[in-house]
Amino acid sequence: MQRLAVFLSLASLAIVITPSRGCSTDEDCSLNGICSQAKRECICHAGWRAEDCSELNLYPAARWSGYNHTNATGPDFYKEGAGNSSWGGHIIQDPSDEKLFHLVTSQMAHGCGLAGWRPFSTIIRAESRTGPTGPYTFAQTLFGTFHHNPTTIYSPADGKYLLYCIGRDIVTPDTCQSQKFNNTISVSSSADLKHWEPLEAQLENVTNPAPWTLWSMQNQTRAMLLAVEKNNIYMAQNFSGPYDLAVEPQNTDRSEDPFLWQDKRGNWHFLVHYLIDIDLGLKGPRVGAHAYARHWQGPWTFNNKTLAYNTTVEFTDGTSTVYYRRERPKLYFSDDGDMTPIYLINGVQEFNRSGSYTLIQPIGPGAREYETKLGFV
Ligand SMILES: *[C@@H]1O[C@H](CO)[C@@H](O)[C@H](O)[C@H]1NC(C)=O
Ligand SMILES: *[C@@H]1O[C@H](CO)[C@@H](O)[C@H](O)[C@H]1NC(C)=O
Ligand SMILES: *[C@@H]1O[C@H](CO)[C@@H](O)[C@H](O)[C@H]1NC(C)=O
Ligand SMILES: *[C@@H]1O[C@H](CO)[C@@H](O)[C@H](O)[C@H]1NC(C)=O
Ligand SMILES: *[C@@H]1O[C@H](CO)[C@@H](O)[C@H](O)[C@H]1NC(C)=O
Ligand SMILES: *[C@@H]1O[C@H](CO)[C@@H](O)[C@H](O)[C@H]1NC(C)=O
Ligand SMILES: *[C@@H]1O[C@H](CO)[C@@H](O)[C@H](O)[C@H]1NC(C)=O
Ligand SMILES: *[C@@H]1O[C@H](CO)[C@@H](O)[C@H](O)[C@H]1NC(C)=O
Ligand SMILES: *[C@@H]1O[C@H](CO)[C@@H](O)[C@H](O)[C@H]1NC(C)=O
Ligand SMILES: *[C@@H]1O[C@H](CO)[C@@H](O)[C@H](O)[C@H]1NC(C)=O
Repeated sequence: MQRLAVFLSLASLAIVITPSRGCSTDEDCSLNGICSQAKRECICHAGWRAEDCSELNLYPAARWSGYNHTNATGPDFYKEGAGNSSWGGHIIQDPSDEKLFHLVTSQMAHGCGLAGWRPFSTIIRAESRTGPTGPYTFAQTLFGTFHHNPTTIYSPADGKYLLYCIGRDIVTPDTCQSQKFNNTISVSSSADLKHWEPLEAQLENVTNPAPWTLWSMQNQTRAMLLAVEKNNIYMAQNFSGPYDLAVEPQNTDRSEDPFLWQDKRGNWHFLVHYLIDIDLGLKGPRVGAHAYARHWQGPWTFNNKTLAYNTTVEFTDGTSTVYYRRERPKLYFSDDGDMTPIYLINGVQEFNRSGSYTLIQPIGPGAREYETKLGFV
């Protein structure tokens, strides 16, 4: 009897000290970790932190890394101050030279800056031989005015890179005045990132493309997913389309700029530009949100309680910057089969500056391990 009493009091003590917010399913860990049933605590996958694994494990960024050409000037500039403004993009490792990295990003022509993105946005390729964080230097204009918001992925089934973007060819005016256009998502392909097929229009009046291939080792399908604004997901049997609307997740209306991916365990995720502070007339600080699902068809859970990241960026020199805008999230993953997010790429703009640039921030120790493996550190 006495032993039973001791056991009971320990059991009730255990109940008292168990945190009431402990997890019970992997969903409670944002599908970015495993819920330990013994401890009822999340064990986060590499790249994520916080009690619910909802926050990116961001490490300090290096100043003058990424693609920051906001101090550039040129003979064809219509105004000074915004430089070669850019706005987010994808990092891609060169297919034949592992030490060469490419950044495919939007860049505003004629010095017109982010405010003149329509119609001055072009799509450019920049290069870095100093590692995936750059600094990157301008290499090539891939698509002239007006083309914007490139998302570039490798399609194993096609053996090619695919570039999705919005826009169409237009002749720009000779001042930095903005114009309005209907959005059209188009796709192009390339074997080497330098030579691209003509863009083919796929979806009219839809913006912010975020493709992901359904290819896997087990199922080498050519089928493609194409997420867009509002986190809607279209599907096509191959990248040439047609793209059919397949999923319209609920409760995601306060977001834009989706980035879609499938993790190593097969779960699906969106990182988005969260627009919650727009209600307060502000662009931040709550800018990075995350949504997750076990199947891309849903149901999707949009985390509107905790953030994946905000507008504050710590730098390796010990300083930090609170950005006015931090949008267009994209992730770069480890190539060791774990799909660990190792870099976060954003379009950023500082307070009271007309220039914008592409910021690359390392995530967790995986970023340095990757750079070490490639011989950059
Ligand atoms: C980007 O460039 C501007 C100058 O145009 C500079 O003031 C700013 O500190 C740079 N930002 C980073 C993170 O290097
Ligand atoms: C822009 O900033 C970079 C990095 O500090 C510097 O190397 C470059 O000379 C600057 N360019 C101009 C035009 O000021
Ligand atoms: C700015 O962009 C133009 C292309 O529009 C390019 O020719 C030039 O080299 C770029 N300069 C810098 C400093 O990025
Ligand atoms: C938008 O699309 C409609 C129909 O396709 C077209 O009539 C209209 O001219 C377009 N607007 C612009 C600004 O391109
Ligand atoms: C695109 O939008 C324009 C203007 O709002 C409209 O006239 C046109 O019918 C739309 N096209 C499609 C395919 O929805
Ligand atoms: C392979 O994937 C495609 C696209 O998701 C799907 O339609 C097809 O049924 C899959 N095939 C097998 C054998 O699972
Ligand atoms: C892509 O898929 C569509 C629909 O199944 C098909 O009609 C088309 O021929 C395919 N295109 C290519 C290039 O395979
Ligand atoms: C968060 O999402 C839930 C479920 O959609 C909704 O009921 C709640 O109002 C949202 N909260 C905020 C602050 O948007
Ligand atoms: C931004 O995120 C960092 C890291 O989680 C946190 O320390 C900081 O307090 C946050 N800032 C704001 C303004 O929410
Ligand atoms: C931006 O400029 C406004 C008006 O000059 C000023 O009130 C504000 O403090 C500035 N913000 C920052 C972060 O420098």
